[in-house]
Amino acid sequence: MQRRSLGENSGVEVSVIGLGAMPLSLSDKPGEAEGIRVIHAALDAGMTLIDTADVYCVDERDMGANERLIREALARWPRRAEVVVATKGGLVRPGGAWISRANARHLRAACEASLRALGVDAITLYQLHAPDDDVPLEESVGALAELRREGKIVHVGLSNVNAGELARARAIVPIVSVQNRLSVMDRGDLRSGLVDLCAQEGIVYLAYGPVGGAHGKRRVAADPTLSAIAAARGVSNFQVALAWLLARSPAILPIPGASRAASAADSAGAAALRLSEAELAALAAAFPG
Ligand SMILES: NC(=O)c1ccc[n+]([C@@H]2O[C@H](COP(=O)([O-])OP(=O)(O)OC[C@H]3O[C@@H](n4cnc5c(N)ncnc54)[C@H](OP(=O)(O)O)[C@@H]3O)[C@@H](O)[C@H]2O)c1
Repeated sequence: MQRRSLGENSGVEVSVIGLGAMPLSLSDKPGEAEGIRVIHAALDAGMTLIDTADVYCVDERDMGANERLIREALARWPRRAEVVVATKGGLVRPGGAWISRANARHLRAACEASLRALGVDAITLYQLHAPDDDVPLEESVGALAELRREGKIVHVGLSNVNAGELARARAIVPIVSVQNRLSVMDRGDLRSGLVDLCAQEGIVYLAYGPVGGAHGKRRVAADPTLSAIAAARGVSNFQVALAWLLARSPAILPIPGASRAASAADSAGAAALRLSEAELAALAAAFPG
């Protein structure tokens, strides 16, 4: 599969489409053996980036569940060294809720727990999951900078940030990635210029919810314009939605989620799909804004 730099100065290259592992560990997760099968299907199809987080779990009692599943899957994978696992810290899951906790003390403990869950000495890409309204961003990013100095993190990324927050973070530590919601239906960061900024600055933009997430995926499956292009090309509507993202910027690297091996394999196929100008124009008209 075609590759993309994980941030221009990182020296790390990964597949242009990565696996979003979240659906493998939330409350409607598949069993562990099936979860491992999904991860192996993604790797078999050429993906070399897996996105996870300590909070991809049911609630606070199984924090790290998704990271442990990935560790297990990679232990049975012959080319482990080729795979980059990107994780995140800065949220907690009391009673299954999603709550920010990005103070320096928590981030240190979270990063150390992720190192144990993943079974590694250093995390190639560690992302602040989201800014915490109760903690200055400088404290959160400063904590990640310190973990980087100690060698526990190789590269720092941010998630759920705007351009102003990215600039504040970059004043403290090099940022190689931004992970925000982006899809054909949800184009805020294209409109705001954040994607272009990432492209200019050599920062990779990890597009989450790239087929609309658990709810939007139904719209992708049913949309007539996506369906017409997909039928003409003999591909799935999901592949068209992912190829649209790849066509929008050299900075974008979609990380579609999957709880079925067939979804992971299908998504990987989008890397080979080049949409024509006419197809891109049809999609622009069908999804205005
Ligand atoms: N940073 C953040 O705050 C944040 C927030 C949300 C997600 N994320 C990350 O981004 C990843 C992706 O986001 P997401 O999982 O919410 O949304 P998504 O990728 O837009 O949608 C995932 C769902 O779409 C289905 N799907 C995806 N590709 C498909 C295909 N080719 N064919 C058929 N079905 C397909 C999957 O179905 P099946 O389940 O049936 O396989 C899956 O349940 C997550 O896994 C996570 O790693 C990050």
